Amino acid sequence: MRRALLVVLLPLGLAACQPAGPVRSPAEIAAHAAAMTPADARLADLYSHACKACHATPGTGAPLAGDRAAWAPRVAKGMPALLTSVVGGYKGMPAGGQCFSCTADDYRALVRFMADQPVN
Ligand code: HEC
Repeated sequence: MRRALLVVLLPLGLAACQPAGPVRSPAEIAAHAAAMTPADARLADLYSHACKACHATPGTGAPLAGDRAAWAPRVAKGMPALLTSVVGGYKGMPAGGQCFSCTADDYRALVRFMADQPVN
């Protein structure tokens, strides 16, 4: 419970989380990624046990959650291509993104959550 509260409160303290704000430093982007969690409980659970290990950790090569600029070129590929990348694995990302109970819908929702922008 305390952790859940932290997750709720942290983003409020981060001015960096404002949409379309000024250019953020790598540290701000990393702090924002660390604080992000999906609103849906099931998705939050899947995320915290899989994607988050890389997508909220700078230096893994993964585009960080909420880093819209890093996600933009991926988003441009379109959701079908991104889904293929996650399911089959892509460069440094293992097949399935280490989520063994994710459905295709879960993956789509997780991608939209991390990209923090519409993905079609
Ligand atoms: C072990 C680390 C790791 C985990 C776990 C992981 N990813 Fe990734 N992911 C990466 C890396 C690294 C890249 C960037 C690969 C590159 O472009 O070099 C990436 C890229 C992506 C991309 C962009 C693919 C593309 O075609 O450009 C998507 C979408 C993605 N991840 C979704 C997910 C989702 C959803 C999960 C959780 C279910 C997840 N990842 C879990 C490491 C990971």
